Amino acid sequence: MRSDFPALKEWTYLDTSFVGLIPNQVKEGYDEWLRQWHHFSPEEGRPLLSTWLEDANRVREIIADFVGAKGNEIAFTMCTGSGLNIVVNGLDWEKGDSAVFPEWEHNPLDTHTIRRCGVELRAVPARGGGFDPADLEKAVDDRTRLVQVSEVSYINGFRFDLKEVSEIAHEHGAKVLVDATQSVGALMADYRRDGVDFVSAAPYKYLMGPAGLAFLYVEEGNIPGLVPDRIGWKNQIWEGARAEEPAPPDTAEKFEYGTLNFQGIHALGESLAYLNSVGMDAVERRVLSLSSHLHERLEVLSKDILTPEGTESPIVSFAQDGAVKLARGLMSEKIKVTGREAHGSHMRVSVHFYNNEEDIDRFIQKMEE
Ligand SMILES: Cc1ncc(COP(=O)(O)O)c(C=O)c1O
Repeated sequence: MRSDFPALKEWTYLDTSFVGLIPNQVKEGYDEWLRQWHHFSPEEGRPLLSTWLEDANRVREIIADFVGAKGNEIAFTMCTGSGLNIVVNGLDWEKGDSAVFPEWEHNPLDTHTIRRCGVELRAVPARGGGFDPADLEKAVDDRTRLVQVSEVSYINGFRFDLKEVSEIAHEHGAKVLVDATQSVGALMADYRRDGVDFVSAAPYKYLMGPAGLAFLYVEEGNIPGLVPDRIGWKNQIWEGARAEEPAPPDTAEKFEYGTLNFQGIHALGESLAYLNSVGMDAVERRVLSLSSHLHERLEVLSKDILTPEGTESPIVSFAQDGAVKLARGLMSEKIKVTGREAHGSHMRVSVHFYNNEEDIDRFIQKMEE
């Protein structure tokens, strides 16, 4: 399986939380899509666009299966932030409402819509390397309309229990918006089981590509109440002469307003097929076993580990002076991790199923030198 990833021949790659590696099969997916366009070989008598749209709907169903959703609950977007903005802009805010998010969010929902509508923002403070549900509970009240969390923190891999977040929010009638970019593809997903309302995720990390594409899950009960914040030919609301076919109003497709990243969607279909052939339960097991091996090895080195012990996620971070410079130095030895000064100088190491214990041991050995 490692031979499917040419980059692994050269690199000790422990940075999927930055950008994931692409296996040959996914690259072939891009190539095949491009070949069709390059040679202009549409299927018999059909416009190319119809074939692309049909392919997008095929991949939409695969994504839905992958995350425990239905095809009509998935919209294609451009990036995680795009899905988050669609949700924030599409809700019917009233002055005095509040929105809650952990202070470490990658894309905190402080937006112009929120400010214009006079919505109070409440950032939950971090404690002991993570967030205490009791603190979240304190921040949420009956005027809270939205609770936003990343399932896995991009800083230290802290993982929220989405079911617990949903229970806290729903008790007050608030909706839950999840950023799953650091978890989808590494950890098994079942958004319906977790009871969350909206999930935005980009595939260029643990789903192994592409960039410039993301998906938004909108639980079907929330579809009618969420108003599309942008309109184009694909979800046109104009009913005059020459109107396009209206987008079905009861599907998340109504949030797609223009031409999609069809090439990326096709390649994402290949990524999902690859992960499904390995089996997401096996992927998750391997990710968690590797991250716990990493945690143990760092403990032996007496590193100040920033990831709470027992965190079930692909990321382990530790405090490190001069982290940026150190990470740059490691690159020249073909070891890739993230070094960051923000949130205190630290190294972030992340694993995927294509890693092995030797990758971790090689990194640890360098840290010992
Ligand atoms: C938690 C999280 N969300 C989102 C992103 C990327 O956001 P976008 O897809 O909007 O570029 C990252 C990138 O590192 C991330 O760590």
